[in-house]
Amino acid sequence: MCGIIGYLGKGNAIDIVLRGLKRLEYRGYDSAGVAFFNGGDFEIRRCKGKIRDLEALIQVSLNSNLAVGHTRWATHGVPADHNAHPHCSDSVVLVHNGIIENYLVLKEELTSLGYQFTSETDTEVIVHLIEHFHRDMPLEEAVREATGRLHGAFALVVVSRKTPDMMVGVRKDSPLVMGISEDGYFLASDVPAFLEWTRRVVFLEDSEMAVVTPDGYRIVTFDGREVHRSPTTVDWTASMADKGGYRHYMLKEIHEQPSSIANTLRGRIDLSRMAVNPGEFMLPDGLLTSINRVFIVACGTSWHAGLVGKYMIESLCRIPVEVDLASEFRYRRSLISRGDLFVVITQSGETADTLAAQREAKRQGAFTLSICNVIGSSSAREADAVFYLHSGPEIGVASTKAFTSQLVALYLFSLLMAEARGQIDSSLRRQMLQDVMGIPEKVEGVLKRESEIEEMARRYSNSKDFLYLGRGILYPVALEGALKLKEISYIHAEGYPAGEMKHGPIALIDEQMPTVFLVQAGELRRKVFSNIEEVTARGGRVIVFKSEDVRDPIPSAEHIFEVPRTNEFLEPVLMAVPLQLLAYYIGVRKGYDVDQPRNLAKSVTVE
Ligand code: M6R
Repeated sequence: MCGIIGYLGKGNAIDIVLRGLKRLEYRGYDSAGVAFFNGGDFEIRRCKGKIRDLEALIQVSLNSNLAVGHTRWATHGVPADHNAHPHCSDSVVLVHNGIIENYLVLKEELTSLGYQFTSETDTEVIVHLIEHFHRDMPLEEAVREATGRLHGAFALVVVSRKTPDMMVGVRKDSPLVMGISEDGYFLASDVPAFLEWTRRVVFLEDSEMAVVTPDGYRIVTFDGREVHRSPTTVDWTASMADKGGYRHYMLKEIHEQPSSIANTLRGRIDLSRMAVNPGEFMLPDGLLTSINRVFIVACGTSWHAGLVGKYMIESLCRIPVEVDLASEFRYRRSLISRGDLFVVITQSGETADTLAAQREAKRQGAFTLSICNVIGSSSAREADAVFYLHSGPEIGVASTKAFTSQLVALYLFSLLMAEARGQIDSSLRRQMLQDVMGIPEKVEGVLKRESEIEEMARRYSNSKDFLYLGRGILYPVALEGALKLKEISYIHAEGYPAGEMKHGPIALIDEQMPTVFLVQAGELRRKVFSNIEEVTARGGRVIVFKSEDVRDPIPSAEHIFEVPRTNEFLEPVLMAVPLQLLAYYIGVRKGYDVDQPRNLAKSVTVE
């Protein structure tokens, strides 16, 4: 939930770390800090607020070869200068992402040994603990000893006044990657932090440490075993992680969807056969025909994608699908077995609950498939098979382009499984693949009508509550529309299956409250029309997002936004886009920081 970075090399370490922190600010943004070696000692600057507040405290022109930085999302202790990282003891300085579960016990122990605490953070126990061991042993060993005492999740970058030409990175259940450039070494929570300087990376595994000096690096496990791992080259570029002229990352990422969806599709369809390339999901031969059940587990927006996936897979493949929230699944005595396929959906690949659920499923013998965006992330590395979204870095805290790529990935997966299980004839399969190949252009068409949504946002931005209703495959899209709105505009919004309206939410309707209806063609639309009538009969305000295929007049709606015709399984993609724009423009009108909404973090790497 926090972002950490360390740099050791010939470049200007202060400038590099500050720039890296800006790339990591999506992970947490209530406080920030850096520590840099000034040739004689480490200087620390830290404060509550954003990176720009921190910059005001630092002279970037200072020369330094070694610096560490942190951008915070508070877990223990309010956002305040004294709780901001880096934390330091006599000789040790460090930054931390994660949560130390046994910090109270350790704090008591260290206090009795004479260590004084100046913050309310759990992190401060780590720094004193390392200091304690470092009195008699070199930094690497001291870090190893200390990590052996920590329970919880932690990624660390540690430096010492005694050896100011070394940094030690530690990874345990929180992400840490190393970047290697001509001029130096980086340790960071995420690749975009150093993409400006290098694309050569080494992904650390759990329970590993990286010991970096000007002469090179070593990777060692917590029990001291040397690990040899060659760097890989990621295909992201620095400009992919820029705002590219847009006012916000979120808007840029919404607009990227024609290309991000095209990237998800690229190479996945065998055009000569008009079939999904089986190799793309990396599944062993026979798996799709032998499984009895599919589990899909995820959090937040990725969970909504999973719910859409259930409709796709059950309809097209005729196999039962269970969709669960990872935070529920991991603590439920779930009945999962070897005959089940366990699909996790995660943009970041680092969501703590999703990873825990994935590990639990693996432990119980299920085959795990990760549908993931971040290459080399924990979920991707630990899964038996991975399908990468290739939608490029998603920086805005609200997930947008990853969601539509997840839907496309699930669509391809459903078609692959339907074919393997003999549930789809070749002409329908061909047609459905043609349909998905046409989606980027249709999304482009929706985006061209952005001004209609801006106008809608103007009209409704003062509303206090919103209701989003949809049926069938559009029900999870209603959930997603409501989630986007509450994340970005802090307006209370609820998503519901339209058929449930009369079982409770109808009580909320009054002259002030807008209800957003999502309508697709088919018999069920008439039932949704009845819901619309019921809302207007109570003076409620109605906004309709509908497919071009729905031709019925809807006189009682204040606004109707039409998305282009496609097949029913792809309508969620086209409906999601205007809902993202609506949330975005309402958030912007209200003057909020839509890229970094309050209390949220991009990657929820703690429980
Ligand atoms: O990286 P993941 O897909 O695992 O993240 C899951 C959720 O934390 C994420 O979708 C969250 O709900 C976003 N804020 C949604 O916009």
